[in-house]
Amino acid sequence: MDKKYYITTPIYYLNDSPHIGHAYTTLACDFIARFKRLDGFDVHFLTGTDEYGQKIYKTANTLGITPTELVNSNVLKFKELIKSMNFSNDDFIRTTDERHITFVQHIWEELYKKDAIYLGKYSGWYAVRDEAFYTEDELVDGKAPTGADVEWIEEESYFFRLSNFQEQLLKVIEDEENFILPKGKKNEVLSILRKEKLRDLSISRSRMQWGIPVPGDDKHVIYVWLDALFNYISALKSPKNLYDKYWPADLHVIGKDILRFHAIYWSAFIIALGLPLPKRIFAHGWWLNDGHKISKSLGNTIDPFALVSEFGTDYVRYFLMSDVVFGNDGNYTRDRLVTRINSELVNNIGNLIQRVMSFIYKNCDGKIPAADKSKFTTEDIELLNRAYSIVDRMKRLIDIQDLNAVIEEICKLGNEGNVYVDQQAPWSLKKNDPNRMRSVLYILSEVIRIIAISLQPIVPNSAAKLITMLNLQCNNNCTENMIPFSNATEFEAFKYEHKINEPQIIFNRLIV
Ligand code: MSP
Repeated sequence: MDKKYYITTPIYYLNDSPHIGHAYTTLACDFIARFKRLDGFDVHFLTGTDEYGQKIYKTANTLGITPTELVNSNVLKFKELIKSMNFSNDDFIRTTDERHITFVQHIWEELYKKDAIYLGKYSGWYAVRDEAFYTEDELVDGKAPTGADVEWIEEESYFFRLSNFQEQLLKVIEDEENFILPKGKKNEVLSILRKEKLRDLSISRSRMQWGIPVPGDDKHVIYVWLDALFNYISALKSPKNLYDKYWPADLHVIGKDILRFHAIYWSAFIIALGLPLPKRIFAHGWWLNDGHKISKSLGNTIDPFALVSEFGTDYVRYFLMSDVVFGNDGNYTRDRLVTRINSELVNNIGNLIQRVMSFIYKNCDGKIPAADKSKFTTEDIELLNRAYSIVDRMKRLIDIQDLNAVIEEICKLGNEGNVYVDQQAPWSLKKNDPNRMRSVLYILSEVIRIIAISLQPIVPNSAAKLITMLNLQCNNNCTENMIPFSNATEFEAFKYEHKINEPQIIFNRLIV
């Protein structure tokens, strides 16, 4: 089995502070990266920042500072977001890094040698906000289809022969079943490729100098998207050569607004160079704020730092990942967050942990009681089997990026545990049938042990607290600070008389 996993986020423009959209894309990758590590994969998780282009240049001008000052200051906020959201990326690439610049210039030369680039003249519309070119017929009421302002540009420019790749792109995207997901988004790309005639892509700018110089012609800088997309490979090339180990990427997670750049441009660049294509591009949806599109001009952006300081990292992570079907748009309201956390983490999972562990602590001398396996009932065996098989179910879901469904699996198990506690009523068994009470508590401890292991990728801090409370030790395939999934499929791993620590509340209720 291929046990490496290379996952990337888009690299973020540094014209502004991070908002909920940036936090969301990286969070999704972090969830998957942590999950894959627990599943024994050698994971490489890359994120970073997109620092060139007209958008950054203009913002810096407006602020009266240099582009370098702007990016060096804003990159710190993105690095702070990593700490604040507890992201576990293995590398952070900046497009102003020397390693990136050298690589992009090398790529340019390669494309030039292969005759994929030529010098011509560009005239057309350009939207700085999107860093994208548009044709006259794409404009809607004089603006880009995204609503961005456009400006007319006429300049000498290098072009990439995108039009040569239309057939190949169509074939790859049609043939590779899961190259682009979700299906709806894949179909959008296919319909572009079937209906539109791809034009060659302008890939240099000469009026604006904030970019990587074109090798051999420093009147031009390289178009920001060509430069940016190659971060996915430049980061693997140095400081250590990780390319052979990790390329092709297993997953590029992006937002739906930048699918065209990835599915069409990026794929075409890769094909032109004769490199293996990434295995999958997944385009997620957008977050709205109380039903409204988030935008700076509307003043309704959602600040991830403010959310973390009000609710804590784990609750923000849990809400963002569980509240929307990954791929669909989401709608943030404070009420939704509070309700979801209270009903799922507090009332369901937290309550199960609390009632079982406090009962064991008080009534079994703080030790996991011994079970009488010869007397296990059908209900006992069913619940245990549901718990031991959760990792398999979650693995299948993570591999199709059905992220919220992974969390639903944990909640379902929590629910089943709670129903079982109610049915078995260990508090009544205490007097009448202590032997049976011990079996019931043992089975529930196993369920809670597996819930603790399963919660690690989504709420790492709370899961760590729970693991300490259960005094869980790693039994096999141990890595620092986590209990891998191989321990969750292990039957009856809790030893009888295993000592637990005094129960603490893991999930505190949020005030409405
Ligand atoms: N720099 C380019 C990406 C280059 S990748 C080689 C870029 N940067 S961005 O900062 O504008 O956006 C980065 C990501 O944030 C995109 O995936 C985008 O979809 C995502 N989001 C921006 N606003 C969003 C929401 N309101 N909701 C969810 N994600 C959104 O594009």
